Amino acid sequence: MAFIWFDTIDAVDWRELSDLYRLAPLGEKSPANLETTFNNSMFKCLVYDDGKLVGAGRVLADGVDCAYICDVALLPAYQGCGLGKKIVAKLVGLSGQHTKIILYAVPGKEPFYRKFGFNRMLTAMAIFANPAQAEAGGYIETTPNPDPQDRRRTL
Ligand SMILES: CC(C)(COP(=O)(O)OP(=O)(O)OC[C@H]1O[C@@H](n2cnc3c(N)ncnc32)[C@H](O)[C@@H]1OP(=O)(O)O)[C@@H](O)C(=O)NCCC(=O)NCCS
Repeated sequence: MAFIWFDTIDAVDWRELSDLYRLAPLGEKSPANLETTFNNSMFKCLVYDDGKLVGAGRVLADGVDCAYICDVALLPAYQGCGLGKKIVAKLVGLSGQHTKIILYAVPGKEPFYRKFGFNRMLTAMAIFANPAQAEAGGYIETTPNPDPQDRRRTL
C-alpha cells in the first residue's frame, strides 16, 4: 500500500481523527479536543491511504528537554503490518534532540514500545482527572493522599 504521510495538520478532518481513535480503539476524543491537542503538539504524524486517515500520533514537546509521545493509533484493518512501528519511529526521530522522550503505554502494549529502546520508568507519577478510571484501566495505583486536600484543585 502506498501511504501518504503528513507532519502538519492543515488538512485534518477532526471528526475523522476522532473516529479513528474510537475505532482503534484508543477511547473517546472529541473533534474539538483533538484540534486543541494536535495544535499544541510540536510534532504530528498522520498517515493516509487513498485519502482515508488510517494512522496518527503526536508529540507534546518543549524543543529541548521533554518530549511526550502520545495518541498513537491505527484503524484496526491497518494494525499488525508494521505501520505502527513506522509511526513511532518517525515520532522518536523527530523528538531526537530532547534530553528524554517519555510515554505511557496502554497496558499490554509495553513490548511494542520496548522495541524502540523505551525502558520502564521507576518513579513516573501522574495526576489523572479521573483517578478511579485510571486505576481501573491499569495505569496507576492509588495510595491514600497524606494531604486531605486535593492539591491539584487547590494550587
Ligand atoms: C499499538 C499499535 C499502534 C501498534 O501498531 P501496529 O501497526 O499494529 O504494530 P506493528 O505491526 O507496527 O508492530 C510492530 C512490532 O510490535 C509488535 N507488537 C505490536 N503490538 C504488540 C503488543 N501488544 N505486544 C507485543 N508486541 C506487539 C509486533 O509484533 C511487531 O513486532 P516485530 O517488529 O518484531 O514484528 C496499533 O496496534 C494500535 O493502533 N492499537 C490500538 C490503539 C493503541 O493501543 N495504541 C497504543 C497506545 S499506547
